[in-house]
Amino acid sequence: MSHLDSAVKGFRSRYGADPDGVWQAPGRVNLIGEHTDYNDGFVLPLALPQATRVAAVRRDDGLLRLHSAQAAQVTEVEVARLGPGAVGGWAVYPAAVVWALGRAGHRVGGADLYVDSDVPVGAGLSSSAALECAVGLAYDDLYGLGLDRPGLALLAQRAENDFAGVPCGVMDQMASSCCTEGAALFLDTRDLSARQVPLDLAARGLVLLVVDTQVKHELADGAYAQRRAGCERAARLLGLAALRDLPYAELEAALEQLPAGELRSLTRHVVTEDARVERVVALLDGADGPESPGGPDGPGGPGGAAAGLRAVGPILTEGHASLRDDFAVSCAETDLVVAAANAAGALGARMTGGGFGGSVVVLAEEGAADGIADAVADAFAAEGWKSPRSFAAVPSAGARRLL
Ligand code: GLA
Repeated sequence: MSHLDSAVKGFRSRYGADPDGVWQAPGRVNLIGEHTDYNDGFVLPLALPQATRVAAVRRDDGLLRLHSAQAAQVTEVEVARLGPGAVGGWAVYPAAVVWALGRAGHRVGGADLYVDSDVPVGAGLSSSAALECAVGLAYDDLYGLGLDRPGLALLAQRAENDFAGVPCGVMDQMASSCCTEGAALFLDTRDLSARQVPLDLAARGLVLLVVDTQVKHELADGAYAQRRAGCERAARLLGLAALRDLPYAELEAALEQLPAGELRSLTRHVVTEDARVERVVALLDGADGPESPGGPDGPGGPGGAAAGLRAVGPILTEGHASLRDDFAVSCAETDLVVAAANAAGALGARMTGGGFGGSVVVLAEEGAADGIADAVADAFAAEGWKSPRSFAAVPSAGARRLL
């Protein structure tokens, strides 16, 4: 059964009627640009084929009803009574979006929602942003709000910040709402200007593996807020609106002005990471030419477009070292995936998402992918850890209406 059919069927079985429509928003994986979004910096995520679907009917009695294919919890709440803390569990995210719409001045009422998702939860692949964006898009249509995509993303981010209490940046929601098939989203998080950067790895014989360690360490939430506060403090001490305003060429001099220790390392990560995003985008732009008909010396040969894409690998590994040593958000499991993948012949690898567990992205030759996944599984077995799950990331479409 298709995803659409199962969403419709699920809705019918819970509510005994057909939905007015079905809306979908994807999870994302970030290629590079980590912990830069709340510093007004650059990010380069892509949408995954794994997505969250919301089948919905508008209700005019002000009641919001929430069912999920993945959870037994059913929630019923008056939209007028929504507020932070009013609901718990998975219902926080859809309720947050409806609340944030009202707070933004939109005249919205109730709905019957049925949610079905194949985005792994707790894997750093933005299952919450997918849920928020799918619900936001459904409400946009059900209530004729006329939101544009950045508007949808900002609304979802506000919902997560102010209702769910997670101080996240805007990357995940922008990726889920604005990505397009076959491309990564080069996003300037300061003004939300964005460009779709074509990413056709298969045409170059490459694959981007996502390795989900299936661990999420407890300190993740507090540590995220603490890193964010540290970055904001460093920017203030340097007299900048955000760390994004510190040019790479002035980094060393600026570090001297900060107290030795954490603030220096946080700043070094953010500024070098912004530069890495720009380097990767330049390589992807260069790789977007025709494959060379002229053999190894043509643009598709080792010195040309394909080589450009392969050169992304070491930048990913450099980014991981920065997240591990300077930003201190990696953990033993993600470090081991990166080390084992690189030792088994990957072109490069890095943790992706907020950190303290979650997933790693690995860039590899297509033919090497299985061997790398096996090597990672062996390394985990040697530690006595549960085997991670891996899949190939295919750049997919952002949020859209299915029915
Ligand atoms: C989480 C947040 C994002 C971003 C990343 C780190 O995914 O939701 O806003 O800050 O961490 O890059």
